[in-house]
Amino acid sequence: MNRRALITGITGQDGAYLAKFLLNKGYEVYGTFRRTSTPNLSRLNFLEITDRVTLIPFDLLDQSSIISCLDYSKPDELYNLAAQSFVGASFEQPIATGEITGLGLTRVLDTLKSLSPKTRFYQASSSEMFGGSNKPLNEKSHFNPRSPYAAAKLYSHWVTVNYREAYDLHASSGILFNHESPIRGLEFVTRKITYNAALIKHGYKDKIYLGNVEAKRDWGFAGDYVEAMWLMLQQDNPDDYVIATGNTYSVRDFAEKAFSYFNLNFDDYLEIDPRFFRPTEVETLIGDSSKAEEQLGWNPTSTSFEELVEMMCKSDDTLVSNGLDSDSRPIFNIKEIPHFKE
Ligand code: NAP
Ligand code: GDD
Repeated sequence: MNRRALITGITGQDGAYLAKFLLNKGYEVYGTFRRTSTPNLSRLNFLEITDRVTLIPFDLLDQSSIISCLDYSKPDELYNLAAQSFVGASFEQPIATGEITGLGLTRVLDTLKSLSPKTRFYQASSSEMFGGSNKPLNEKSHFNPRSPYAAAKLYSHWVTVNYREAYDLHASSGILFNHESPIRGLEFVTRKITYNAALIKHGYKDKIYLGNVEAKRDWGFAGDYVEAMWLMLQQDNPDDYVIATGNTYSVRDFAEKAFSYFNLNFDDYLEIDPRFFRPTEVETLIGDSSKAEEQLGWNPTSTSFEELVEMMCKSDDTLVSNGLDSDSRPIFNIKEIPHFKE
């Protein structure tokens, strides 16, 4: 019989890539979506898998929907990817972020413990929990969360560790560094850059407004990182793993490469906008994923930084040159980048 996987947050970037990865492995894939006025299926559509997954309504704020999801899907593996995942918004909505990204995990895990303790569990933890360093960070590095998002993720990380130790659950935590793709949300800086560069190239805009362009991140490709999530759940014992490329680049590095893809000079279009600076910033992140390499056999450098930038630019160039916005709708429907500050 096929193995069954349940993915919370299947409509997000990682959820969509993970779903595709698991379908290719022969899994029966169930995924959760939030009831909204218009359900967000654009990423599943982009990867052409919408009809191959079973969608279940769910909200991390609603315990009864978690019970229904488990009852309906009876998963062998549960990947908890759902979260309020945007650091910037967590300063504006700290309480909602705590409820969703922090307590939401406890709702899921506690329900799993009662209803399905043999299900293997993955928690989407984050390099934001470290708060930044110029040296490569690993599983033993000190945590120093610098946003309500990071604090909520650290809480949910420790609850995952605690439930593993207290109740013997097969619960693993992947401490993933930034990973991007053509279906990255538009408010995250990489996609904001590639999409805006395409809009500028094709005459829809003439400026890009950014904050701290000197911040550095360890950027990988989301399609490579979902394999690491799966590998963690295939181990005999649950554990925590850092997933990163081991290279770090500034926002400026990323933008210069992206704009040069479109034969544009980044500095001619850049406007520094103080509204995009954060009250507390994580200046530099770089990860050391040696443990994952040794124990999981995961390869950190499948997609290079240059390949990642090019992949994202190419995709946004195709969308915009076909007159389509980021959800593949006609460009006259284009919303400004959906960021509350813009
Ligand atoms: P994403 O694109 O923002 O997706 C987040 C998902 O969570 C979406 O499906 C979203 O649904 C869902 N969601 C949000 N609030 C919810 C709620 N109250 N109830 C149920 N579902 C809810 O994030 P991502 O980049 O795929 O990241 C996946 C996970 O990994 C997140 O937990 C993120 O914090 C974590 N992470 C990401 C990275 C990274 O670089 N991408 C690095 C480390 C950790 P809608 O589609 O309806 O909004
Ligand atoms: N979003 C955004 N918009 N970021 C900007 C901008 C801007 O206009 N200008 C500069 N930046 C800087 C931010 O200040 C930050 O230092 C860096 O670009 C990256 O910002 P994001 O792309 O928003 O990602 P993040 O690093 O804050 O968080 C992402 O990675 C985490 C893992 O380290 C998210 O995916 C989190 O969910 C994830 O946990």
